[in-house]
Amino acid sequence: MDRMRIHGGRSLKGSVKTSGAKNSALKLLFASLLAEGRHTFHNVPELKDVESSAELLGSLNCKVQRKGKTIIVDVKAPDSFEAHYDLVRKMRASILCLGPLLAKYGQAQVSLPGGCAIGSRPINLHLEGMKAMGAEIDLRSGYVHASVPTPSKRLKGTNILFEFATVGGTENIMMAATLAEGVTVIENAAKEPEIVDLANYLKKMGAKIDGAGTSIIRIEGVDKLTPAEHTVIPDRIEAGTLLIAAAIAGGDVTVQDCVPEHPEALILKLREAGFRIETAPTSMRIRSTGGSKCVDVTTAPHPGFPTDLQAQFMALMCVSEGVSVITETVFENRFMHVTELHRLGADITPKSRVAVVRKTRRA
Ligand code: UD1
Repeated sequence: MDRMRIHGGRSLKGSVKTSGAKNSALKLLFASLLAEGRHTFHNVPELKDVESSAELLGSLNCKVQRKGKTIIVDVKAPDSFEAHYDLVRKMRASILCLGPLLAKYGQAQVSLPGGCAIGSRPINLHLEGMKAMGAEIDLRSGYVHASVPTPSKRLKGTNILFEFATVGGTENIMMAATLAEGVTVIENAAKEPEIVDLANYLKKMGAKIDGAGTSIIRIEGVDKLTPAEHTVIPDRIEAGTLLIAAAIAGGDVTVQDCVPEHPEALILKLREAGFRIETAPTSMRIRSTGGSKCVDVTTAPHPGFPTDLQAQFMALMCVSEGVSVITETVFENRFMHVTELHRLGADITPKSRVAVVRKTRRA
């Protein structure tokens, strides 16, 4: 969609369902590479990134069929183990096919994802982890050439301590470790709900994983995995965005089919800003009559305030009373939205990773 036209000034009222989590669906699709046969995923959101993942799987000899929100991936051994630049540049998460291909076939050539609007986004921690597991990694002509130089072609379990709790790095190593020889322990692992969802699917496939959702994940390698069936968890970022939309516009909105514990850091901040939020086991209701106050927010890995909700929360702070200090600690350049909010008259002073937001005064 190139253009959206929004007629503002109306409050929001009603119920809305949450889609399946994009950041979970993409990794689940790549996890299917670990076992030949038919994998079934339900509640898969209809998004460009999902299409790009399907295209990449197609280039690796998989047959991908979509029926509504269900995707079936029929995995066959690929003829080539290459994730081409044309596909990877469309979607950075394509790097997540590296761990499964390397674990299953002992080789992979994956294009480097290139630059990104929110920072350099290196993959050094993914690669260091795989090297520690015995992979030979060579960066040539913009590609990661990875192989396991032993007769068994199997990675070896080891202890990996991440310098930063990287989401993609944790997922790539966790997938790689499922078929490795021996035990892999990931320390300072990321704790996002999407990692737990991925671990749950891998366990359905026969993987032995403990501790997903905590900072130490232990994976005992097995010889073989088998395809399974899984329903993607609700998208906590979409659910949080809907809450913030209602907070900004005012009104009474119930967000359904979600897990209220997942965006807990946001709910705490919304309450601190003066909003009434009620949670039930699978829904959240926000009632907003305006008059919110500014609060400070610092993004952090889960269970901290998600960087993926930082821009939306900043928009809310623009219409709240007082001054808010918003600090971005996860990505180095994630204030691209500030200049767009300026065009709408916002009073925001960004400096490096900190932005000071004052209530926008109407001209
Ligand atoms: C995932 C999410 C993204 C979210 C982010 C943080 C997907 C598809 N995307 O991205 O929406 O904003 O988590 O919650 O799931 N880093 C390194 N070296 C590495 C890997 C990461 O330095 O090898 C740094 C990154 O530059 C960044 C930080 O670690 O500053 C976090 O990155 P990471 O958690 O890996 O994010 P992604 O998995 O790319």
